[in-house]
Amino acid sequence: MKREQWKSQLGFLLAAVGSAIGLGNIWRFSYMAYSYGGGAFLIPYVTALLTAGIPLLILEFAIGHERVGSAPLAYAKISKKWEWLGWWAVIFVMFGIELYYTVIIAWCMDFFVLSFNLGWGEDPNSYFFKDFLALSDKPSAIGQIRTPIFAALVVVWFMNWMILYRGIQRGVELANKIFMPLLFVLTAVLVGWALTLEGAMEGIKAYLTPDFSKLSNPKVWIDAYSQIFFTLSLGFGIMIAYASYLPDKTNISRNAVLTAFINSGYSLFAGFAVFSVLGFMATSQGKPISEVVSQSIGLAFVAYPKAVTLMPGGNLFGAIFFLCLVVAGISSSVSIIEAFTSAVVDKFALNRKKVVTLICTLGFIGSIVFTTQAGLLWLDIVDHFLTHYGLVVVGIFECIIVAWLFKLKILRNHVNKISTLKLGPWWDFLIKYFVPLVLGVILIGDIYNELRQPYGGYSWLSIIIIGRDWVLLTLVAAFWMALRPWKTEHHKAPGRGDKTIV
Ligand code: PHE
Repeated sequence: MKREQWKSQLGFLLAAVGSAIGLGNIWRFSYMAYSYGGGAFLIPYVTALLTAGIPLLILEFAIGHERVGSAPLAYAKISKKWEWLGWWAVIFVMFGIELYYTVIIAWCMDFFVLSFNLGWGEDPNSYFFKDFLALSDKPSAIGQIRTPIFAALVVVWFMNWMILYRGIQRGVELANKIFMPLLFVLTAVLVGWALTLEGAMEGIKAYLTPDFSKLSNPKVWIDAYSQIFFTLSLGFGIMIAYASYLPDKTNISRNAVLTAFINSGYSLFAGFAVFSVLGFMATSQGKPISEVVSQSIGLAFVAYPKAVTLMPGGNLFGAIFFLCLVVAGISSSVSIIEAFTSAVVDKFALNRKKVVTLICTLGFIGSIVFTTQAGLLWLDIVDHFLTHYGLVVVGIFECIIVAWLFKLKILRNHVNKISTLKLGPWWDFLIKYFVPLVLGVILIGDIYNELRQPYGGYSWLSIIIIGRDWVLLTLVAAFWMALRPWKTEHHKAPGRGDKTIV
């Protein structure tokens, strides 16, 4: 069967951007910038983007496009021995990250609804942890499933399923063509509105005032690199799968640069809304900014609801904010499922629609554990292990396999033949030495911290069972998948670089 293709280059670009822009852009980037030197943080951030983010994104687009396959197929076509790496990427993302990512989107949906009548009441902190999550005190105390979260989760998985069931052009591409412009407009409304709030400028000042002294701390640089990898969805097998649906003639390097700049530009822009609101809150409560800032779920589900309650017309503001999170989240979530779906279809020649239905059902069932009272604790542990180890290890191997086992030059020539932005030997250098080195440093730092004390103050037992074993289980599943016999002939087909493209 002929491989499906994107209808247009723009459709592909929007889908790649849709994957890259996710919850992390809204609640992680701005906090990082704030705590790591404000405007000065842009120096390590942009350095990481240029020296690792864009080169690796070009690499992932190039592998997917040149080898014409999802991650496992693309690696199998480089060396049969490394097929497992592709499986590992798509498995730990699908049966790890995706399971809790969808639950966070479900929380956002619930909070979208709550916004209309400020349903979190006077004390959003206590509402979120005690009433909404009914959080238990340790991971083993699972308690009950939280009905409102469960209900929203059904909607999230239904949306995932519906988009993917319709295929690439009529599903993923169409959804992103609607979602991305919608997201940009909604975000612009939020930023415009937030800037008019009293105290907004205080917030912006805190966000952007450069503090160059922070840059001497190596942690700032390491975190800038980690953020770039995560935000560009690198090491997940997603960009490989998306690029495999591109037609022969495609401007690979330009698409990579555009994806990267749109994604980072969005982060920077959304930060204005985040910090204007925090400035407003600090001013109206007579507190310093440092006391009102928070990141990730603390920002979205505690600080923002608080601010929204204080703001005139806040319920609409809150609704738009949570809608942004839902839209940004769904487009990333869809990309994860697509990476796994295309891998299964490539290898086992199964009917795509059936595969999508099966995977979404399994994913939904797997997510349920995160809707329980211990959900947030599980989420925290699984997230820590998978994003720190899965992502980084795949990134390192990816560079090594392509640079040392395959000929990097084949890929570079392939990209240069069809792209306007030409890659020089500098690209080889970055992929061959620099990126694996940076990732190696991140990995060693992570392992060192890991062994010093159990992550997040959890017991060693829960860290081992939930964190380490989750990682190992996905690894075993990856080897198992790689050992299954191929039901298609795809892995024997030549890559695009093996024939001449006119
Ligand atoms: N890039 C997304 C973000 O910044 C995260 C993501 C994770 C996307 C996993 C896809 C898969 O939030």
